[in-house]
Amino acid sequence: MIGSSPTSSHGLGRAVRHHWLLEEGMTFLNHGSFGATPRRVLGAQQNWRLQLERQPLRFMIDTLTPGLRSAASQLGDFLAVAGEDLAFVENATTGVNAVLRSFKLNTGDEVLTTTHVYGAVDKAIQFVCRRSGAVPVLVDVPFPIDGPQAVLKRIEAALSERTALVVVDHITSPTALVLPVRQIVDLCRAREIPVLIDGAHGPGMLPLRLGELGPDWYTGNCHKWLCAPKGCAFLWANPNSQVSRDDIHPPVISHFLDEPWPAEFDFYGTRDSSAWLSVREALDFFAELGGDELSARNHQLVLDGAALLCDELGLELLAPTAMLGTMVTLAYPGPGEASVEGAQTVRRALWEQHRIEVAVFLFAEQLYFRISAQAYNDLDDYRLLAAALRAEVEA
Ligand SMILES: Cc1ncc(COP(=O)(O)O)c(C=O)c1O
Repeated sequence: MIGSSPTSSHGLGRAVRHHWLLEEGMTFLNHGSFGATPRRVLGAQQNWRLQLERQPLRFMIDTLTPGLRSAASQLGDFLAVAGEDLAFVENATTGVNAVLRSFKLNTGDEVLTTTHVYGAVDKAIQFVCRRSGAVPVLVDVPFPIDGPQAVLKRIEAALSERTALVVVDHITSPTALVLPVRQIVDLCRAREIPVLIDGAHGPGMLPLRLGELGPDWYTGNCHKWLCAPKGCAFLWANPNSQVSRDDIHPPVISHFLDEPWPAEFDFYGTRDSSAWLSVREALDFFAELGGDELSARNHQLVLDGAALLCDELGLELLAPTAMLGTMVTLAYPGPGEASVEGAQTVRRALWEQHRIEVAVFLFAEQLYFRISAQAYNDLDDYRLLAAALRAEVEA
């Protein structure tokens, strides 16, 4: 099937599922955690690997860097920025670490984020603060939430002369909220505070024009909503940032230390760069499925799915639809222990008894589940989940 063309943005759902390797009989409603890569994109990745192995020296010395820069240029077109401002990284965690571990923090500085921060990013903030004597500040963002003002008011109130850096999610992981990052950047810019956006879910979920958004750095995964191979992500460094991008280093220091950005990122030791090189195929596939229209269709589908679940199970949306993308988090209605282990038990039961994969989380001491919508989903998937949850509630 590799090499075949997807249908247009109409006729999605079941009609395009064969482009993915997803197991037959599985209801896959957790695209958000790790994405899922279509056969065609994996085929392109394999072609890069074969090219390398046919003549390793020619590939590593002559082909790799121009190939990466050409891929960055195409990704730049998609993100409305210059390719030279983009460095490839393995994942958003690495992009966040590159900035955090390069950024000069002093004793008493504050690094501000929110209570919805992704766990690994929270740990990285704690690590750099521990080493420098800086202080992590967690802004308590409510959930349920009634609008973006609730975020903006709290962040504005927490900014101070000590705030050295703001790290904010574009789309939060446990609660699936699209945060008002544009306005957060404006608040910070007025105070000359640098902003790092963790856009792990951004590319392919929301139309992105990074230059207009204007943070100092934006890291995004291509392996989630753009369906690129695992390990394909980027770090965008705003050329107009007050912090020189030549001071931002990858977490691994190697040959190209002190070379102008982004040479250090393009090569920091022998590795498999095929995921980065095949971003072009992922972008083409995404465009053929509809591009921004696909994201809009997925947004509507997940809202319809959430409405169905709310009707069937007596639940409520916990955020206005304008703060949602292609994932929705709802309160888990069934029995279950409110703990990390309890969340895993519920997730496993839904898989083992119903063949449904859905994210189940503990957040603020309550169990929640998060649904997603990607091209291969249709409304029947949410009907199956509703029936499974009803069975769990009644068990
Ligand atoms: C907000 C957020 N940040 C960071 C990550 C980490 O992504 P990765 O594992 O690709 O580094 C995730 C993963 O879901 C996320 O949701």
